[in-house]
Amino acid sequence: MADDSDAPEVELEARLAEQDSFEPPAAFVEQANVSDPGIYEEFEENWPECWERAADLLDWEQEYSEILDDSEAPFYEWFGDGTLNASYNCIDRHIENGRKNQAAIRWEGEPGETRTYTYQDLYREVNAFAAALRELGVGEDDVVTLYMPMVPELPIAMLACARIGAPHSVVFAGFSADALATRMNAADSEYLVTCDGYYRRGDALNHKEKADRGLRGVDHDVETVVVDRLGDELKHFLGQHHHDYADLVAAHEGEEVEPVERSAEDMLFLMYTSGTTGQPKGVKHTTGGYLAYAAWTSHAVLDVKPEDTYWCAADIGWITGHSYIVYGPLALGTTTMMYEGTPDYPDRDRMWDLVDKYKVDVFYTAPTAIRAFMKWGTKYPERHDLSSLRLLGTVGEPINPRAWKWYYKHIGDESCPVVDTWWQTETGGMMITTLPGIGDMKPGSAGPPLPGISADVVDATGDPVEAGQAGYLVVNKPWPGMLRTLYRNDDRFISEYWQEYSDPDADEWVYFPEDGAKIDEDGYITVLGRVDDVINVSGHRLGTMEIESAIVGVPGVAEAAVVGGHHEVKGEAVYAYVITEDGYEGDESLREKIIDGVDEAIGPIAKPEQVIFTPELPKTRSGKIMRRLLEDIANDEELGDTSTLRNPEVVEDIAEKVRGESEE
Ligand code: WT7
Repeated sequence: MADDSDAPEVELEARLAEQDSFEPPAAFVEQANVSDPGIYEEFEENWPECWERAADLLDWEQEYSEILDDSEAPFYEWFGDGTLNASYNCIDRHIENGRKNQAAIRWEGEPGETRTYTYQDLYREVNAFAAALRELGVGEDDVVTLYMPMVPELPIAMLACARIGAPHSVVFAGFSADALATRMNAADSEYLVTCDGYYRRGDALNHKEKADRGLRGVDHDVETVVVDRLGDELKHFLGQHHHDYADLVAAHEGEEVEPVERSAEDMLFLMYTSGTTGQPKGVKHTTGGYLAYAAWTSHAVLDVKPEDTYWCAADIGWITGHSYIVYGPLALGTTTMMYEGTPDYPDRDRMWDLVDKYKVDVFYTAPTAIRAFMKWGTKYPERHDLSSLRLLGTVGEPINPRAWKWYYKHIGDESCPVVDTWWQTETGGMMITTLPGIGDMKPGSAGPPLPGISADVVDATGDPVEAGQAGYLVVNKPWPGMLRTLYRNDDRFISEYWQEYSDPDADEWVYFPEDGAKIDEDGYITVLGRVDDVINVSGHRLGTMEIESAIVGVPGVAEAAVVGGHHEVKGEAVYAYVITEDGYEGDESLREKIIDGVDEAIGPIAKPEQVIFTPELPKTRSGKIMRRLLEDIANDEELGDTSTLRNPEVVEDIAEKVRGESEE
C-alpha cells in the first residue's frame, strides 16, 4: 500500500488545520464516573488485568480464571472460561437489585404515541418471546435474523435471543430485500423476526412486502414472526410459516425462561458490514468480552448512570445501536430512549422536543445529523429547554471543528463535554476518544486511545509517523470488545485485518482498521477516513464494490466505478461512473434504472447522487481503475497525476461532463 494512494487525508488536513482545545466543565468532572487521570497509567501498567474493571460491571455465573488467552492469536479469547447470560445482565439482575419499576426503554413513535417498558415489563415480554422462539424451534446457537425498524420489539427480540443463547443477526430495515436474502443465506438463518411497517415522515411504509420478497431469495425454509406496528393503517397477510408476534407473546404470557449459561466466548451476535469485496462480512461478537466492553465504555465515556435518561439517536440496525442503545445502557440499568422516525418530522425541532420532553441527560448522535441541524439553524434548538443535557457524543465519521463547535455551543450550551468517539463494527465499542471527565477536547480530533487501548499512526512500512503527518491507524494490542472472526471465514478475518502490519513469525499481531489518521504531539488522533474501497454516506458504511456489482447487473451497463464525493450533509455521496453496452444510450431512462437497481440490491442509502456516463474509465497500464482520479473529479479538485494511465485523455472528458452536469 503506497502512501499517496487514494488518500482522502490531504483534503481533510486543510479542514482540520485549526485545533482549539476545550477543558471539561468543572461541574461535569465533579460528578463524572471516571475522573482520575491516573487511569491511563494504571491500565497500562496493569495490562491485561485492567480489563477486570470492565468484567466487574457484569454478573458472571461462573467466574473466569484467565483474562486473556493469546495462544492462538489473532484468535484471542477474553474471560474464556467464565460463563454468563447477556439477557440476565441486562434485565434480571436489575430487578433483583430492587429496580424493577425503573424505566428500561422509553419509546416514541414518529406520530407521537409513546410506550415505556420498566425492567419488570421488559422481563415479562422478553421471557414470553424467548419461550415463543423456543417453541418455533430455535435452539442454542441457531442464528435468528431480525429485520426490524425502530420498534421496542427489536431490542426485546435481541434480548430474547440472548436469553436462549441464539445469536441474532440484525439487518438494517433500510436495506433491501436482496440484502436481507444475502445475509440470511450467508448465516443459514432459519428464523426471521420482522414487522409489517413503520412511519417515515408521516407515511406508513410497507416493510413486510420487502421482507417477503427477501424470503423468496432465501434458499432454505424460514419461520417468520411479524410484529404488527401499523394496525389498520396497513393491513398485512400472514402466510404459511408466518406467526403474529402479539399472538405468540400472549400464548406464552407469564412463562419464565431460565437464562442459558453461555461461555464468555460464545457468539452473542453477528453483524454484517461492508468491506472491500462485494460480499458483506459477518462480524462475530461474543457474550463476555463484547458485553463487558459495551458496559465499560458506556460507563467511562458516556458517563451513563442508572438514574439517567440516555439517548443514542442511532438505529439499532447498526453496531452503534447494538452497543449504545441496547447492550451497554441496559447492562448498566439505565433508561434508554428509542425514537422511530426522522429528525425533521413534523418539524426540524423533533430531537430537541424529545430531549426537552424526556429530560435527556446524555445525547449521542452522528456528525451527519449535526451538520443537518447546523444547516437548519439555531432557531430549532432555541425553541426548547435543553438544560437537562450533561454530555454530548458523536460517532460514525470525522466531525469538522465547525460542526463540533456548533454542537458544543448550540446544543450543549458550552457546559457539556463533547466526546468524539472513533470505533467500528469490528471493535464492538469505542476505542479512541477523550474521557469526558479527564481530557481536554480538541474539536476535529477524537482524542487519545482509551485506557488499555494501544493505538498508533504508522507509515506504509509500519513505523510510527511524526506528529502532524498522515498515516495509517493501527491497534497494537487486543481488547475485550474485538470481533473474534468473520463468520465462517477465518481466512478473510486474517487477510482483512491482520495481514498488513503483523509479523506472524514473531507472533506480533497488529490490527488494521483500514482508516487513515494523524496524531499530534499530545497523542491525540484525528481519524481522516477509510483508505479501502469503503465509503461513508451519512455515517453508513457502504462498499463501493457492492454498489458497482448492483450497477453492472442493470441491462445496458458494461462497466461501473463508484467513488465517494464530498457532500455537505451526508459527508460523502455516491458517484457512479458508468460505461454503457453497445447499442444502449446513457440517457435518463438508463440513469433511473441504475438508481432503482442500487435501491433494489442494497437500499435507498446507497443510491447514486450522480450517474456519469462515460465511454471509458481511467485505467492504469495493468488495467486497474484509478479511483483516486475519479474522486478528484467528483470533488472538483485539481486532478492528480495521470501519467501512469493507459488513457489519460479520458480524464479531462469525464471532468468536463461532471462540471457540466453540476451546473445544470
Ligand atoms: C468507520 C466504521 C462505530 C459505529 C458507527 C460506524 C468511521 C467512526 C468515527 C469518528 C472519524 C469515524 C471510520 C471507521 N468512523 N467513528 N469518531 N471519527 N471516523 O461503524 O459502519 O463499522 O464504520 O466509521 O472510518 O472505520 P462502521
